[in-house]
Amino acid sequence: MDFVWWAVAGIGHLGVCAVAFNQIHATSYPRHVRKISERILALIALAFAVYLGWQMIALATVRFWSVVNANLANQFYLTFCLPIGAYFIGRWCYRKWKHRSPARVISRSVQKQNIQKQLGRSVYHGTAAQFLGCWPGNQAHWIASERLSFHVPRLPQSLEGLKICHLTDFHLTGQIDRSYFSKIVETANAFEPDLILVTGDLIDESHCMDWIEEIFGNLKATHGIYYVLGNHDRRIQPESMLRQRLEDSGMVGVSGKWQSICVRGSTIALTGNELPWFPHAANLKRLEEAMIQDFNNQDFENAIAAEDPLKILLSHSPDQVHWAAKYKFDLMFAGHTHGGQIQIPFIGPIVAPSRFGIRYASGTFTIGQMLMHVSRGISGDKCIRINCLPEVGLITLTGQSPSGSRPIKSKAE
Ligand SMILES: [Fe+2]
Repeated sequence: MDFVWWAVAGIGHLGVCAVAFNQIHATSYPRHVRKISERILALIALAFAVYLGWQMIALATVRFWSVVNANLANQFYLTFCLPIGAYFIGRWCYRKWKHRSPARVISRSVQKQNIQKQLGRSVYHGTAAQFLGCWPGNQAHWIASERLSFHVPRLPQSLEGLKICHLTDFHLTGQIDRSYFSKIVETANAFEPDLILVTGDLIDESHCMDWIEEIFGNLKATHGIYYVLGNHDRRIQPESMLRQRLEDSGMVGVSGKWQSICVRGSTIALTGNELPWFPHAANLKRLEEAMIQDFNNQDFENAIAAEDPLKILLSHSPDQVHWAAKYKFDLMFAGHTHGGQIQIPFIGPIVAPSRFGIRYASGTFTIGQMLMHVSRGISGDKCIRINCLPEVGLITLTGQSPSGSRPIKSKAE
């Protein structure tokens, strides 16, 4: 029983570190501030292991409560960490019990590919990446083609079966070979999507700028490729040069502005949010206001013709979910959280850089009338993914209502 108390206290200790990590990484603090805080938190987390080891030795020789009673530091530690640990465990159990796949996710299937095996060689470059690449269970060189079907009540008949490919968090660093990202492009193009939506963290290192044309320039979608930037894209300066290179490769930036697209005679209104890292979306007008004041080009004439077009948001972070509520989007696509990158069996992810912690680490969520899909993304600045496959998503929209609260159909191909 003594060990149970210490385990709960340990969960409290590590839980506080995880919450601090998530909150700091959800902000727009400079990179060096986040890196320093990351190291301090790692030391605090490590201190628990050291403290626990010391206590285990004490527990092996003396009864637990006599140790506690004899040591003021222990009393303080348990008084502080036990209730916090109990809170985290209670909250986790509540969320597990409450969580259900939204009834509007009609079907889901996943097809996995081991790209390293296909290429017959390692895709990792550099000592750190090669070390992580050998880590047992690391899936950073895999691709999961994730096919989802969403019920969108306001979908016009003409958009029935609209195919959206969602890609996010490429993190081009040079640690993973560009041939891996070419396979991502191949997989996305094989979906033959109507639209491709890219939600940020495209490139971390300026020496990968030359990859842009080969990777993003080869994406193909009938009605265009639209993007927003993420926090890691701030490493490329000036930012305008990165946006220009992306636009030159055929992508359309939608940060903080409305973009209307005419698809099969119906209008889709797209916009992007890069907050808190880039400010463009901060004062975005509602679509209705923008239609009156700003629609002065030919594209927008289509939008005016549509009284209330389908509204889609590209946001780097799922933290913008409450910002999205006031614009009444039908769909929101986000990345940034990478599914936590390491998912412990049954428990799930521990950290995700969001002010909501791991709540929106990955998956599909109903927020009022809006459906938000948070992708696990493709890569990361550290080449490690355990039980968290890189995701290339294809979302097919339907206006046909599922019968009642139809459970999610899942099949692995
Ligand atoms: Fe990212």
